[in-house]
Amino acid sequence: MTGRKTMNKINMAEMYSDDEIKNKTVSILDSGRYIKGEENQKFEEEFARFCGSNSAVIVNSGTNALILALKSLGIGPGDEIIVPSHTFIATANAVLFIGAKPVFADINPENYTISPDDIRSKVNKATKAVIPVHIYGHPCDMDEICEIAEEKDLCVIEDACQSHGAEYKGRKTGSIGDIAAFSFFPSKNMTVSGDGGAITVRDPEVAEIAAAIRDQGRRDGSKYFHEFPGLNLRLSEIHAAIGRIQLRHLPEWNMKRRENAAFFSSKLDLDGIVVPKEESWAKAVYHQYVIRIKDREGLQKHLSEKGIATGIHYPIPVHMQPVMAPYAKGEALQVTEGIADEILSIPVHPFLSSAEREYIAESITEYFR
Ligand SMILES: Cc1ncc(COP(=O)(O)O)c(C=O)c1O
Repeated sequence: MTGRKTMNKINMAEMYSDDEIKNKTVSILDSGRYIKGEENQKFEEEFARFCGSNSAVIVNSGTNALILALKSLGIGPGDEIIVPSHTFIATANAVLFIGAKPVFADINPENYTISPDDIRSKVNKATKAVIPVHIYGHPCDMDEICEIAEEKDLCVIEDACQSHGAEYKGRKTGSIGDIAAFSFFPSKNMTVSGDGGAITVRDPEVAEIAAAIRDQGRRDGSKYFHEFPGLNLRLSEIHAAIGRIQLRHLPEWNMKRRENAAFFSSKLDLDGIVVPKEESWAKAVYHQYVIRIKDREGLQKHLSEKGIATGIHYPIPVHMQPVMAPYAKGEALQVTEGIADEILSIPVHPFLSSAEREYIAESITEYFR
């Protein structure tokens, strides 16, 4: 790995670059083909195959992937969409942005993913879709969610922005719902060395509409014939090429994340810490490794003094954000609100050395002594 910024501090994420990426970038610059080329086409094929999905549409961010997913399914004003509040705000922002209404559901207290029971209690006649978020790289309980969706005639849009390669009962996230959104933001399990995203789509007709919306509402091959209200959500050829290279590394990086997580879970089984639970049906990819602790500030300060970065994902539940006040209506989400003051993410990225992860575990243990 190259590009490590400091030797002393242990960061939450490391940016990856190598000679193949650098050479490819130069060759695309020299080629003069910057958009709508072979790199995007191949990235779509390879990403869809990796996810076990029928097709993929590559776009320029995870947020736009969510917006495109909602638009391609015909969701809009007057529709209600059930989302978890324990997520990055983009999940709910995408719903707001297309003029629909986010309805917030609570989470499972053990794996932090959306509670199927709470989804069920919030479905009404206006509900059109549910967005399960595979938070921290742990899949949601998709059988339960798909069963509710089938019964109530809802679309299932997986927010897989943190779960590239994670599996639910042997199926990759992104291949289970009607459509799924991925982010290639720089700190994700794989990136395009900038902003980027993708949707994976089960129905080929929906995929064609999505590809058209991404490109001014025109289908592939037509230049000035526009069938849908469209946008420009395209990704550059350079970023698509980098995504293809990173996708090849993803299985190995996910394996390293899983090894690091297993190491931490064995070392941090201490009174006062709750380590993440991996369900028997799940293969998580640990986008984040999140512990729970009452004295979060104290541990964070201790780790910071030791040169170990930490993060909080996320300190304010989405339904408590000012922008969401008109939709949350003072509703209490007990589990979501209960964990917000206790969660702490520690570095779990695949470029941690054995010495570094040992040092992280020892530093945490030391705080409890
Ligand atoms: C759960 C979730 N949804 C959506 C997004 C939005 O992705 P992006 O930052 O690429 O727009 C992110 C990324 O940060 C995310 O973690």
